[in-house]
Amino acid sequence: MKTIKYRVLLFILLICSVSYAQKFEGLAKTPPMGWNSWNKFACNVSEKLIRETADAMVASGMKDAGYQYIVIDDCWQVGRDSLGFIVADPERFPPGIKALADYVHSKGLKFGIYSCAGEKTCGGRPASRGHEYQDALTYAKWGVDYLKYDWCNTENLNAKGAYTTMSMALKEAGRPIVFSLCEWGDNKPWLWAEKVGHLWRTTGDIFNCFDCIKDNGSWKAWGVMQIVDKQEGLRKYAGPGHWNDPDMLEVGNGMPVNEERAHFTMWAMLAAPLIAGNDLRDMSPETLGVLTNKDVIAINQDTLGIQGWKYAVNDSVETWLKPLVNDEWAIFFLNRSVLPKKIEQNWKALVATDDFSGRSLDASGNNIFVLKDLWLKKITGDTRKPFSTVIPGHDALCFRLIRKQAKSPK
Ligand code: GLA
Repeated sequence: MKTIKYRVLLFILLICSVSYAQKFEGLAKTPPMGWNSWNKFACNVSEKLIRETADAMVASGMKDAGYQYIVIDDCWQVGRDSLGFIVADPERFPPGIKALADYVHSKGLKFGIYSCAGEKTCGGRPASRGHEYQDALTYAKWGVDYLKYDWCNTENLNAKGAYTTMSMALKEAGRPIVFSLCEWGDNKPWLWAEKVGHLWRTTGDIFNCFDCIKDNGSWKAWGVMQIVDKQEGLRKYAGPGHWNDPDMLEVGNGMPVNEERAHFTMWAMLAAPLIAGNDLRDMSPETLGVLTNKDVIAINQDTLGIQGWKYAVNDSVETWLKPLVNDEWAIFFLNRSVLPKKIEQNWKALVATDDFSGRSLDASGNNIFVLKDLWLKKITGDTRKPFSTVIPGHDALCFRLIRKQAKSPK
């Protein structure tokens, strides 16, 4: 009798776990890295652009630095056929999406696409409402590896319900596809999306400015600093396979290199997806240097997957910390002022405990860390000596604290 009861209980537990866990597990163990067309090209997408971008991702060294996904954003679609299947713009994508995905795959990269939970996308193109399973099957057939799913024209929809439907449709279609929720944080996806997708936008759209707000009438676009401030309190929801997404990068779209450096390092500290949003075919050496800084990327891709936090603020300079594998740490100083600011760090006084991960950084006493400056790309000293420097306006400094000597046993 007992065994039967036990089996029934096991069966119920199994059913519950199967119906609850709908997303593809095992994807995006570290924040996804790639490129998306929207920030630079908006609706001006074409087969030629995507092919050339894939070529440039390889030739520039970005692929070697870890970038993987090539994602076409809005405006690739023009209608549905008589059976309701989505149709790509035949003028802009003459051989169709499958051929393009094959090309991207032939470069050793992965292919992503965009749709929206409403009836129309934000760009007014046909979206997936009522066609979720059909679209998911189409994407799987085409070889899609990543879906960005938007939230325009969804007035009467429940966000968790709508995104769960697409998540289940993708799972049913059978191809592992990273599911990127682009719901702008309106319905707090961090509270419910861990089992639904692999990343969720936390804010409205970014735009190409370090510290400003662009008022578009019915909606606002946010500068890099405004987006950073909106991440407050969200770090506890992120981790391997489920990331906060503060939107795609604006590196290479016109900001001066100091701001690019600060923006990119900040995204690394936030364990944010690193999705480049510039023209990869035409980058300055400075922009390429920022996007491919392997030490900064290593902070972002650290396998612990713990998002950093703001540890201190002093005269416009923020100090952020991020725990890393092997008891190492990243420390990031962000100068939000346009003026140069002097910073002084007495490492011996640096004792910080992360309430979320339970990890502690203790550079006092016998704990000595070597300091690697991730933009100078060299070891500049260790934590035995206090450190002082001037950070130019809108710039940043980041060290990896590498453990030199374990605490001597008591
Ligand atoms: C929304 C999204 C953007 C982009 C556009 C496309 O604004 O937030 O990232 O995908 O739609 O129309």
